[in-house]
Amino acid sequence: MNRREFARLLAIGGAAPFVSPKAAWARVSDLPPTPASPDEKFWTAVRDQFVMPKDLAMLNAANLCPSSAPVLETMYKFTKDMDQDPSFDNRAKLGDGREATRKLLADFLRVTPEEIVITRNTSESNNLVSTGIDLKAGDEVLLTADNHPSNHAAWQEKAKRFGFTVKDVPVPNPHPGAQYYVDAFTKMITPKTKVISFTHLTSTVGDLFPAKELCKLARDRGILSLVDGAQTFGLMDVDLSDIQPDFYSGSAHKWPCGPKENGVLYINKASQSKIWASIFSAYPGRVGVSKTFEGFGQRDEPAMIAFGEALNFQTKIGRAQIEKRSRELTQALIAGLKKVDGVKIWTSPDPARTVAVLSFQPGNLDVRKLSVALYQKDHIGCATRGGQDRPGIRLSPHFYNTMADVDRTVAAIKKYMATGV
Ligand SMILES: Cc1ncc(COP(=O)(O)O)c(C=O)c1O
Repeated sequence: MNRREFARLLAIGGAAPFVSPKAAWARVSDLPPTPASPDEKFWTAVRDQFVMPKDLAMLNAANLCPSSAPVLETMYKFTKDMDQDPSFDNRAKLGDGREATRKLLADFLRVTPEEIVITRNTSESNNLVSTGIDLKAGDEVLLTADNHPSNHAAWQEKAKRFGFTVKDVPVPNPHPGAQYYVDAFTKMITPKTKVISFTHLTSTVGDLFPAKELCKLARDRGILSLVDGAQTFGLMDVDLSDIQPDFYSGSAHKWPCGPKENGVLYINKASQSKIWASIFSAYPGRVGVSKTFEGFGQRDEPAMIAFGEALNFQTKIGRAQIEKRSRELTQALIAGLKKVDGVKIWTSPDPARTVAVLSFQPGNLDVRKLSVALYQKDHIGCATRGGQDRPGIRLSPHFYNTMADVDRTVAAIKKYMATGV
């Protein structure tokens, strides 16, 4: 786009009437109370809380989730209030709202507000850990081979600078079971190991790692643990008081269905003296570790408040119910895809090894072409994985999906497997 075209677009935008979100979309009704045994009717009412067109089946929660209407309305309400009166006096309540979100995060993860840092996303949280721990030549960091770049490349790059060594615990496919990982970590730990860092649920093929057992293994040996929770925060009913990691990271815009560019870093009280803050600026949080760790300068506090609303929304529905529903949708997808000739599923159907991220190779079909066809012709959103290592399509259903989405997706894959794309 050249400058003239850009100026024209801006002029068009400027001339458009200012539409409030409530006027821009119609919500069917308020969120109903969750019945003891939620049925398809209830989950359809949950779906109606989202502003996605009804015929769009988004099965890509592992990448980015939509925010519900209550979250969007909260963000709009506080943003408008701030922009109507940006004085310090008026904005004081936004700081209160940010602290309320910290409290909600602590309740959600079953820890204390003093252990919560509100960051931009999992990438930032992971990097605050890999930059903040004192490591030197001779020290070792144990990773799983399937970590996201923010928890893999980041450690490798910092190893170059600080001189420590990084080792990968192999990740075989299919998932070999929790005990394999406990044994593999146990074997690879040496007296030099200072940190273990792994992904709770992998974004590649949805392998679930035994977080509690691995954190205990580390703790018993005086090793720090970082659990990358990008794929479990807002999906599983995560209880950090049980898992007891030193650090846990997550993003608001994934499974919690919160605003973009908000995230969390949990820093266990016992570990706060073992990590340095990396960013020093104005406007830190008010309690605990956030007083030293969260001074990131001016923040988008309306979005942080909307993050809290996203947590409220999930809590209202019931976190255990959300996990159960996402698991049921995934199991239904696995059952359907198993019956399609030529499909190779990379993800274990065992509920102890998986949750709601499912990958499969659709025979010899070109996965990029298939994903384009699925989106453009069938209005199904998914992710692709190229290369030689477990290539294919990734589906990650969440509580806003319906069984009709599952049926439609299996039918579409079956069609393309039979006819090609
Ligand atoms: C396991 C894992 N860690 C970290 C990230 C990075 O998340 P973000 O882009 O929100 O920082 C992702 C994103 O997909 C992920 O799957």
